[in-house]
Amino acid sequence: MKINSADFVKSSPRADLCPESSEPEFAFIGRSNVGKSSLINMLTERKNLAMTSSKPGKTMLINHFIINGKWYLVDLPGYGYASRGKRDRDKFAKLINHYVLERQQMTLLFVLLDIRLEPQPIDINFISMLGENGVPFALVFTKADKLSKEKQGLAVRRYLQALGEQWEELPPHFVTSSTSRQGRDDILNYIQDVITSLQSNTNQ
Ligand code: GTP
Ligand code: MG
Repeated sequence: MKINSADFVKSSPRADLCPESSEPEFAFIGRSNVGKSSLINMLTERKNLAMTSSKPGKTMLINHFIINGKWYLVDLPGYGYASRGKRDRDKFAKLINHYVLERQQMTLLFVLLDIRLEPQPIDINFISMLGENGVPFALVFTKADKLSKEKQGLAVRRYLQALGEQWEELPPHFVTSSTSRQGRDDILNYIQDVITSLQSNTNQ
């Protein structure tokens, strides 16, 4: 898929204040600093569309970007950022869960995982919550440029194996790097396929 336009629409402090629109939304979630905002910039080829930072906790609102005037990429705050303190962590968890579980337009959630890390309980628990609630999601391994191709393969197999102990069916997965642009075409083609299948469903 070609990205012809990518524009910031709105930052929302709550799920019920998100844009009123019925177009499909593809959202990015994961721990703070995993690379959600960087991935949105990489996919859209816009350097500063989503704000990034080397310090965790940068994205604090739900950010909508409209792509080709037709569908949205949504940048979410990270979960589990320890230095935030419990009250703030709870506030962000509520905002994230509300968006993920209640937002009708949320078509697919990309769950980002740092490819260098062993499966972390916080991510595994979040993925379990998605599974239990029937939320459609795919896994995105980030920062692949930090590992050799061989180690990338090993890390992904290890992760999927860990998930396979709990789930019969594994979600789609992508291996990406915002610096080398690895995985860009795979994710965009996948989004295109999902949009096409939505359209053929509504035309039936
Ligand atoms: P929060 O908004 O705080 O939840 O973080 P985020 O998940 O949006 O992460 P962000 O995109 O701001 O990136 C965090 C840091 O990781 C920044 O310093 C990025 O430059 C770096 N980073 C993100 N993606 C990659 C990647 O693919 N490769 C490398 N080497 N660094 C990356
Ligand atoms: Mg961010």
